[in-house]
Amino acid sequence: MQQDKKVCVIGLGYIGLPTAALLANTGYSVHGVDVNQHAVDVINQGKIHIVEPDLDTFVHSAVASGRLRAGTVPAPADVFMICVPTPFVHDDNPIPQPDLSYVEAGAKVIAPFVRPGNIIILESTSPVGTTELVRDTLIQCGVDVSSVHFSYCPERVLPGRIMIELIENDRVVGGLSAVATEMTAAFYKTFVKGEVLKTDSRTAEMCKLVENSSRDVSIAFANELSILCDGLGIDVNALIRFANRHPRVNILQPGCGVGGHCIAVDPWFIVAKDPKNANLIRTAREVNNYKNRWVIEKVKNAALKFQIENGRAACIACMGLAFKPDIDDLRESPALAVAEALRDDKFDVLAVEPNIESFEGLKLVSVADGLRDADIVVFLVKHRQFVSLDTQGKVVLDYCGATITA
Ligand SMILES: NC(=O)c1ccc[n+]([C@@H]2O[C@H](COP(=O)([O-])OP(=O)(O)OC[C@H]3O[C@@H](n4cnc5c(N)ncnc54)[C@H](O)[C@@H]3O)[C@@H](O)[C@H]2O)c1
Repeated sequence: MQQDKKVCVIGLGYIGLPTAALLANTGYSVHGVDVNQHAVDVINQGKIHIVEPDLDTFVHSAVASGRLRAGTVPAPADVFMICVPTPFVHDDNPIPQPDLSYVEAGAKVIAPFVRPGNIIILESTSPVGTTELVRDTLIQCGVDVSSVHFSYCPERVLPGRIMIELIENDRVVGGLSAVATEMTAAFYKTFVKGEVLKTDSRTAEMCKLVENSSRDVSIAFANELSILCDGLGIDVNALIRFANRHPRVNILQPGCGVGGHCIAVDPWFIVAKDPKNANLIRTAREVNNYKNRWVIEKVKNAALKFQIENGRAACIACMGLAFKPDIDDLRESPALAVAEALRDDKFDVLAVEPNIESFEGLKLVSVADGLRDADIVVFLVKHRQFVSLDTQGKVVLDYCGATITA
C-alpha cells in the first residue's frame, strides 16, 4: 500500500533505523539521515550496521523497494522524526545533567527543510520541555513555526524485540497543541497496532521518564533488601520468594547494580529538573549505584580471606559482563564495572561473557575454563549459560540469582 506522506528520520540507530524501515515497508517514502557516513553507506546497500533480529529483512526490502534512502543531509518531508541520542553529561556533577546537544543539532539540521503544515516528532527519551526546545531551536533558525505541528512520542521497545514491539506496543503521543496531537496520533495509527494514547507533550515526556524511574525504584528496593539481609544472615532470594506469595506483593530480583542506557540514565532527567523534590527517585539511583560498590567490596573481601586462608592470591571468575541477561550490550553495565574494578585493584580476574567474543582490558575465557581455573566464582548476570553449573569446591558469590534452584 502506498502512503502519500514523505517522512524524514534523523538518527538511524537502534530506534531511528527500525522506525524508518518499518515506515518504508508500510508504504511511506522515507529519507533517513545520520551523521555517521558508514551507517549511511551500509543502509543504502540494504544492510544494517547494528544488531537486531529481523531488522535486516525490513531494511533490505525497504531499500530494494526504493522507499528508503539514507543520507547525511535531510530532505523536504511531511513528517520529521528526531531519534538522536540523549545521554547525560559525564562530569563531576553529583546530579548528572542531560546532554541535549544532539537534539538541538537534529533540530538545526532540519530547519532549512521545514515547511508550513509539517509534523515534527521527537522520539528521543528527553527531559520535560524538550519538545518546546525543538520548536524554539527552529524559531532561532528563522523558521516560521506558526503552522508547524510539534509532538513528542517516546519509544518503549525492548532491544531484541524491536521489530515486534514497534508495531505491537501502545504509544503515548503528546503535541504542543491539540491539533499536533491529533495529526501525530493519526500518523502513528497507520503503522502501530497497539493503542495510540493522546496527551500533551510534557505529560508524554514525563511518562517515558516515569516508566524507567518506576523500574529503578523497584529494583532499588530489592537491592537494599539484599544488603540488609546480608547483614542479618538471611537468604534474600528465599525471603523474596516467601514475600511474593502475598497476593499483592511483587518484589523484584536484586542484582549487582542497574545498567544500560535507559533505566540507569533516564531517572536523572527527572532529578536534574527538580532536585529538591525528586527525593525517592534520586535515592533509588544512589541505592542502585551503591549496590555496585558494595558488591565490589564483598568480592574483594572474599578474595583477601581466601588469600589469608590459602597463602596465595585467589583467581576470580566474573560470570557475566553485560548489563542484563542474554544480551551483548555492555553500556553502563554494573557487572562490567565490578570486573574492571577488581582488575584495576590488581586482583587476578577472568571474565566469562558468552555473548561477546573479545573485550580489550579483560581476560575473556569460556564458561568451562572460568569454572576450572577460578577459586572464587562471582555470578553477576543471570545468563542462561550460567544456570545449574557445577561449582563444587569453589567459593561462590551470587549477586543475580543464577544459583537459585527453587
Ligand atoms: N535503544 C533503545 O532500546 C531505546 C529504547 C527507548 C528509547 N531510546 C531512546 O531513543 C533515542 C535514540 O536511541 P538509540 O538507541 O537509537 O541511539 P543510537 O546511538 O543507536 O542512534 C542514534 C543515531 O543518531 C545519530 N546522530 C547523532 N547526532 C545526529 C545528528 N545531529 N543528525 C543525524 N544523526 C545523528 C548517531 O550517529 C546514531 O546513529 C535515545 O534518546 C534513547 O534514549 C532508545
